[in-house]
Amino acid sequence: MIVRGAVLREMGLPGPYAESRPLRIEELELAPPGPGELLVRIRAAGLCHSDLSVIDGSRPRVMPMLLGHEATGEVVQSEAPGFAVGDSVAFAFVPACGECGACAEGRAALCEPGAAANTAGTLLSGVRRLDGVHHHLGVSGFADHAVVSARSAVKIDPSLRPEIAALFGCAVMTGVGAVVNTAQVRAGRSAVVFGLGGVGLSALLGAALVGAHPLVAVDVVPSKLALAESLGATHTVLAGEGAVEEVREATSGGADYAFETVGNAKVLEQAYAATRRGGTTVTVGLPHPSQTFSVPAVSLVAEERTVKGSYLGSSVPSRDIPRYISLYQAGRLPVDRLLSATVGLDDLNEAFDNLAAGTSVRQVLLF
Ligand SMILES: NC(=O)c1ccc[n+]([C@@H]2O[C@H](COP(=O)([O-])OP(=O)(O)OC[C@H]3O[C@@H](n4cnc5c(N)ncnc54)[C@H](O)[C@@H]3O)[C@@H](O)[C@H]2O)c1
Ligand SMILES: [Zn+2]
Ligand SMILES: [Zn+2]
Repeated sequence: MIVRGAVLREMGLPGPYAESRPLRIEELELAPPGPGELLVRIRAAGLCHSDLSVIDGSRPRVMPMLLGHEATGEVVQSEAPGFAVGDSVAFAFVPACGECGACAEGRAALCEPGAAANTAGTLLSGVRRLDGVHHHLGVSGFADHAVVSARSAVKIDPSLRPEIAALFGCAVMTGVGAVVNTAQVRAGRSAVVFGLGGVGLSALLGAALVGAHPLVAVDVVPSKLALAESLGATHTVLAGEGAVEEVREATSGGADYAFETVGNAKVLEQAYAATRRGGTTVTVGLPHPSQTFSVPAVSLVAEERTVKGSYLGSSVPSRDIPRYISLYQAGRLPVDRLLSATVGLDDLNEAFDNLAAGTSVRQVLLF
């Protein structure tokens, strides 16, 4: 069939994207699903900084690529057991083969064939269903239809509004998972979140849910601090020179847990410096591969500090997405507050300018 979607053919074009127009809306051939795959009519797709990082070249990917990895839709053809026409699904941006060593250990986010397929820009089976164009993280949700591996899909409650359902696949699973899976924060422990985009605010919501206290939020954009306060932050700090000191004061000498959700190694150093003795720093942002960070080596030992990476919230998507949806429906995880705007396929370049400027949290493409 012919689909209409947003294709990136060249990384690193200069902004503003409203002028350079890195995303071209193209019509292209989508082959039917093979064994273990689904054809999905996409209903909504969120704009994540990881899409922007492919556009600006800080997360290099094989070109050309149809972007979008945080999406939801309805199955229109199923070649996989367990999925039927009409099912609502959300996607995880790492397919989980279910059989490799990482999957066997319950660490689906580290699935080895899943990571290899994502690097190659293919579906889990190693094939491409888009004619001459690569898949983005097994999803390619910025198009009216997608063929995906069923291992990238999780069945969800069909009553959820699509612009909310989309958020669970990346922002929510990543941010909440960093708190509940990677760090396993417990009630009454202090936490700080550096960076209040879709991922950081999801981490904040997760930290509020599990009872982190005090709970500090840091960003360069003042309006994000106000939003964080309304979502449960007990203290907010404008990023800059004195930010680490302010966080240390608000947490009586440093946070038990610090989350870096910016994608900047310098901010990771600040997050580390904002933790207390025995503290844990969880890094979620994806900086350019050339960036490195340094910490006083002895502090890891003499102060028993920990630095942990968190990919896809260390999640098992088929376990965690339904849990988070249920918490949202119970009013315990108000992820609808992350939605800044809905946009159309033809507005994507302008919308990525907004994301780059930090003026929006989650903008969601609606079909
Ligand atoms: N680990 C994962 O599995 C995973 C998944 C999704 C996204 N990511 C990465 O997480 C990061 C955040 O993604 P997002 O979609 O929420 O991005 P975003 O652009 O919406 O949010 C980033 C936030 O950081 C703020 N910021 C910028 N500089 C700062 C500074 N010096 N100090 C404090 N805050 C600062 C921005 O104002 C913005 O609010 C990106 O690097 C993205 O690639 C990682
Ligand atoms: Zn993402
Ligand atoms: Zn696997």
